[in-house]
Amino acid sequence: MEVVIAQDAAACGAIAADAIARVLDRKPAAVLGLATGSSPLAIYDELAARCDAGLISFRHARGFTLDEYVGLPADHPERYRNVIDTVFVSRVDFAPGAVHGPDGLAADIPAACAAYEEAIGQAGGIDLQILGIGTDGHIGFNEPGSSLASRTRIKTLTRQTRIDNARFFGGDVDLVPTHCLTQGLGTIMAARHVVLVASGRGKAEAVHQLAEGPVSAMWPATILQHHPHATVLLDDGAASRLQLVDYYRETYLSKPEWQGI
Ligand code: GLP
Repeated sequence: MEVVIAQDAAACGAIAADAIARVLDRKPAAVLGLATGSSPLAIYDELAARCDAGLISFRHARGFTLDEYVGLPADHPERYRNVIDTVFVSRVDFAPGAVHGPDGLAADIPAACAAYEEAIGQAGGIDLQILGIGTDGHIGFNEPGSSLASRTRIKTLTRQTRIDNARFFGGDVDLVPTHCLTQGLGTIMAARHVVLVASGRGKAEAVHQLAEGPVSAMWPATILQHHPHATVLLDDGAASRLQLVDYYRETYLSKPEWQGI
């Protein structure tokens, strides 16, 4: 796992955008894993700016979102499929229908989850997966206790996650859905490159566990220690509890610029 401590969220966004640009250069029809949440916003802003400037194109690319609330109406602004359209997809040049998400309104949820896994496989798997992290160490919506080998499925949200996400629902935790569909930890582990971004001291403990704790279902993100190509992009706040912080800084500084993450 590579840990990179950047100056701020915008710098993290630029580093991740560089990695995505390299993937698209090599493979214009690349498959991207898209995450919601505030952490990846700087990545999407940077990609939208580069697309506007004609430096990058998603014309042949495809996208799969990480997770979705169960039961939010199709036009609800907090439905993740709508959120990702607003913050990213509508700002770049994806072809119509190129971005998919798990169907939180499906009548047959297990079948919808299986179909989602199938669709990712048919697309050739995810080349680069963008991730945030919850304060309890969840990635996607894989809450503590999730199977480390799980695939896309329905999960019950923890009270902590619903409290954390209430800010998107007018501060009312009771308006936050109780269930979600999420790519599993096994699904995320199958992506060829995973780029996790975190900012602020509120994420510091989760980030410490992710990079330096024992691998455990209690901190689901720790499974990424087993990933052959995982990059963790942090600001100073999110890095503030790391034991090996000086080592990570030195390692990144001594890396040749062309190598990227
Ligand atoms: C939600 C999402 C996660 C995201 C997490 C952190 O729970 N399902 O994918 O990583 O929030 O969000 P934020 O980046 O806003 O802190």
